[in-house]
Formats: sequence, C-alpha cells, structure tokens
Amino acid sequence: MNRVTITQYLTEKKNVVDRAIKKYFMSQEQLFNVMYYSVDGGKRIRPILAIASFESNGGKNINEVLPIACGLEMIHTYSLIHDDLPSMDNDDFRRGKASSHKKFGEAMAILSGDGLFAYAFGLFTEGNYLVNEKIAVIRAVSEVVGPRGIVYGQVLDITDHKEMNPKELRKIHLNKTAKFIALSIKVGAIMARAPQKRIERLYKTGLYLGMLFQYTDDILDVIGEKEKLGKTPQKDKASGKLAAPSVYGLAGARFRAQQYATLAKKRFSELGAEFNIFSQLTDFILHRTF
Ligand code: IPE
Ligand code: IPE
Ligand code: MG
Ligand code: MG
Ligand code: MG
Repeated sequence: MNRVTITQYLTEKKNVVDRAIKKYFMSQEQLFNVMYYSVDGGKRIRPILAIASFESNGGKNINEVLPIACGLEMIHTYSLIHDDLPSMDNDDFRRGKASSHKKFGEAMAILSGDGLFAYAFGLFTEGNYLVNEKIAVIRAVSEVVGPRGIVYGQVLDITDHKEMNPKELRKIHLNKTAKFIALSIKVGAIMARAPQKRIERLYKTGLYLGMLFQYTDDILDVIGEKEKLGKTPQKDKASGKLAAPSVYGLAGARFRAQQYATLAKKRFSELGAEFNIFSQLTDFILHRTF
C-alpha cells in the first residue's frame, strides 16, 4: 500500500462503517439504545474485511456491500454480549465500558443480543439488487454463525478442559472465530460477483487469518493492557480456558501466530496485486495491541 498507510486505511473504512451502522439505530426505543450501546466502539475488523474483499474483487459501488458489512458487525456484537454474560466468560468490561449485562441487567443483555442477531438478517436482504448473491450470503452466514460455527465454538469453549490439547484448541479457534473472519472476506467476494473458485480460495485463506486473529486475542489476554484493549486481560488462565498460550506457552503461541500470518500472506499474494491490502491487514492483525 503506497498512498495510504494501513492505519489510515482502517480509520477511513471504520468511519464509513460507523456512519452506516448508526443509521440503523435511529429509533428512540430503549431496546435500540441498548443494542447500539454495545455495537458502538468496536474495531470493525469484520465489516472492513468484507469491504476490502468486495473492492479487491472489483466491486465498485460500496453501497452494495455496506448493509451486509453492518450486519456482520451486529452478529459479532451479539456474540460478544452473550460471551460476556456471567454464565459464559463473566466479563464486566467491553469496548472500553461496562458490558451490556452490567449496564442494563442480564435479561436486557440477552435480549439485545437476540435483537442484533435477527436484525442482521434483515440487512443481508436490504435493497432490490443482487438477489441471488444475497441468498448466497445468507446461506454462508448461517453456516458459520450457528451450530457448526460460532455457537459450536462457544460450546466447546465453555466445556471443562482436563488437558491442554492442541487439537481441541484448534477446533475451538476455528469455530468460534476463524470461520467468521473467513466468512467476512467471502461475503465481500460474493457481492462483487467473484468466480466461485476464488470465493472458495479466499475463504480457505481467510481461515488462516482467522486463526491468527484468535491467537493474537489469546496472546493479548496475557500481555495486553486493559485501557488499550477495552476489555479485561488475564482472564483466560484464571478461568481455565483452553487458549494458545496455555497450550503452547507465550513464545510458542507467538511463533505459531507468526506462522499463520506467513501462510495467510503467501496465499493472499498468490491472488495477485489487487489483494495486497490483505497482506497489510494480516500484518496489522499479527502486530495488533488491541
Ligand atoms: C473479540 O473480537 C472477540 C474475538 C472473536 C476474538 P474483536 O477483537 O474484533 O473485538 P472488537 O469488535 O474490536 O470489540
Ligand atoms: C470470543 O472469544 C469469541 C466469540 C465468538 C465472542 P473470547 O472469549 O476470547 O473473546 P474476548 O477475549 O472475550 O473478546
Ligand atoms: Mg469466550
Ligand atoms: Mg470472552
Ligand atoms: Mg479472548
């Protein structure tokens, strides 16, 4: 990336996403306030990946992918609200403020997550264009956010782990995080009408990026700062979670994160110069501090 740095790129895209998301929360209804409270403040990595993929695949009109990108962020936010609940990770602090259940009580937190999850599917169908592509998006999303993806990963994550097993760790990371990251890239490609083969290649490569993303999340849980992260570090070990540093040690986890990054960048670069942004995004995720 020559003209703009990756940080500038992320800031510009995040602003586009933030503005687009805000429009969906104009209702004065308290439920919408509660939902927006949690939606506000994320890094917007998943919608940015969708937009980056749309543009790298030759998509021109960003409005064709923007509602879908916003929908991804709503599903992601729902997963965070539920992830933080006392019965799950019991986290009081998220995106730099009190988590939803701390602020509004557990019942409202659960319901606002439900609301966001359903609201997203409406956004996937928004507009009278690219109808077949949007059906493909909905199919792909539902495959990855439900019982063969995020929800399954979360079930494995809350299971008592007697031993720190690398195979089990991989299964958790793949399902709770990596598939959704890969999906974000996939839906951008679908909306840009990319050839099926490339869509599949992007998804597979996206899985490496997704594994890397959860590795860095686990590493930041050990070495990150609360203020910077906007969430409470040092939780995984204390709650007996199967996380990369507990299985491989901190140095081992860092080494493997580096390997995932190298793999992802190699595959992205094979797709051609239009996909350079993905190598930059991979490096950003490898070196992130929040
Ligand atoms: C945190 O996701 C949860 C994981 C799947 C690791 P992010 O690190 O993208 O959190 P936000 O969206 O920026 O708050
Ligand atoms: C969360 O993993 C994955 C989700 C699907 C929400 P974590 O439990 O490690 O995420 P953080 O660290 O709380 O953000
Ligand atoms: Mg969790
Ligand atoms: Mg958590
Ligand atoms: Mg974590």
